Amino acid sequence: MTINKPLSAVILTSIAITAHATPQDNNPLKDTPFANQTAHGYSLKFDPSKFVKKTADVDGQNIAYRAVEKIVYVQHPIEPEYQTINFYVPEAYFTNGTINGYSAKTVPIFLPNSVGGYMPALASTADAKGMGGQTSTILQALKQGYVVASVGARGRTLGTEGNYTGKAPAVIIDLKSAVRYLHANDANMAGDANKIISNGTSAGGAMSALLGASANSHDYDKYFAKLGSAKASDRIFAVSAYCPITDLDHADSGYEWEFHTLTDYEQMDMSKLNAQSYNDRSTPMPKITGSLNDKQLAVSKDLQNQFPSYLNSLNLKDENGKALRLDANGKGSFKDFIAKQIIASANKAISEGKDLSNISYLTIKDGKVVAVDFDGYVQHKKRMKTPPAFDALDLSAGENNLFGDKTTNNKHFTAYSLKNSSVASNLADKDIVRVMNAMNYANNPYASQYWRIRAGTDDYDTSHAISAMLTAKLRMNGKAVDYALPWGVPHSGDYDLPELFAWIDGIAKK
Ligand code: DHB
Repeated sequence: MTINKPLSAVILTSIAITAHATPQDNNPLKDTPFANQTAHGYSLKFDPSKFVKKTADVDGQNIAYRAVEKIVYVQHPIEPEYQTINFYVPEAYFTNGTINGYSAKTVPIFLPNSVGGYMPALASTADAKGMGGQTSTILQALKQGYVVASVGARGRTLGTEGNYTGKAPAVIIDLKSAVRYLHANDANMAGDANKIISNGTSAGGAMSALLGASANSHDYDKYFAKLGSAKASDRIFAVSAYCPITDLDHADSGYEWEFHTLTDYEQMDMSKLNAQSYNDRSTPMPKITGSLNDKQLAVSKDLQNQFPSYLNSLNLKDENGKALRLDANGKGSFKDFIAKQIIASANKAISEGKDLSNISYLTIKDGKVVAVDFDGYVQHKKRMKTPPAFDALDLSAGENNLFGDKTTNNKHFTAYSLKNSSVASNLADKDIVRVMNAMNYANNPYASQYWRIRAGTDDYDTSHAISAMLTAKLRMNGKAVDYALPWGVPHSGDYDLPELFAWIDGIAKK
């Protein structure tokens, strides 16, 4: 993957980390005590007197805020360093002030998760710098007037041999527990817990989507009691999801449907990366390049052939009620639906002053893009992943590691990869795979009403079909989805915060 533009905060790539490293060494709050530790565990009652006053310069403006960091959001955490909220409130709200039309009672709560690669995630701090040293998303959100609840969660490498503590569905249980904490303490905390807006990128985007879709589903009930999660709703108001790596059980076939013509791959060499540096990409990662071998080409073909029947089984429709289908060759109205998004994206780029006249796969008439050759577009980069992209036959993918369990570090999660496995292996519990997939909850009556889904046209970490299917399914269930494929944007998030915040203000002030 080439990252050739000064994209902000989060730039992520695929990984196959199996090391058990944890980010503790890089934890800026390592020596900060937990905010709510008691003699018997952790109190679920928010203590508003515990804050620290802070200030920051954000684009020349002085921002005063209160911070309560390292609130453990469950009574009996398994990995307390990760199961925390860092809570930030603009100071003005404590003197009856208003910012951007919001008061302490009405202001939305922005809920960024720091999950990446399904790795363990420490809750981000306001003063941590984004990529390239720019101001954190948290400070930008505080400047906009939002209350910020930055959340961490367990991830797939936590624990020790025989006692892995962060395997699926730990990450979503943790994020839901954080939301429950906010609801339970709404009367005592600044911000409106009925206006929680979650934000995440990649694996974090998938979890943001799942958090919004699966709200209050009983499918997760059995996990909360053991952790001592607050007995409260885990419903959220809105979802912002950048390049969500979701629908993992169908992502392999989706990947080959889109990228099967690409026989050369180029991926980051993540083998030397430990968990600590996953979210800290200050130095570029070395790349591995290669060409698919005959066996991989055969696997690609198998998976490519699986996708149309899956897509058609969803019975998706577009905004006008037109069926979104694929024929046996992978062509049809669903492909056209994505192509239309690419055209819209290119036209937006042109309207912002980009010159796209040399791009051979676009047809431009009178300065407007009128058609895209989808197959030509796909060819503009190398593929990033080898087939199967997510459920690797040798169990080497991050997602194999996600779907391990307490005692088995890596598992398959698709019937195809189990059948064709190159190593001794088991299949993950199908209920766990199901509760990790936002697609399974689009029709949940408690699902968020408002969605903003982004996946860049240069993002080859998962198929563009994934975000398109999620969008269509949500819209069919009456959800308002703002969906776009930003032009030339690689696998990344938080690169368009002014637009994200304008969207938030639009829905929060309705
Ligand atoms: C992420 C990227 C991937 O390609 C993937 O398979 C899982 C997670 C990420 O950046 O979070």
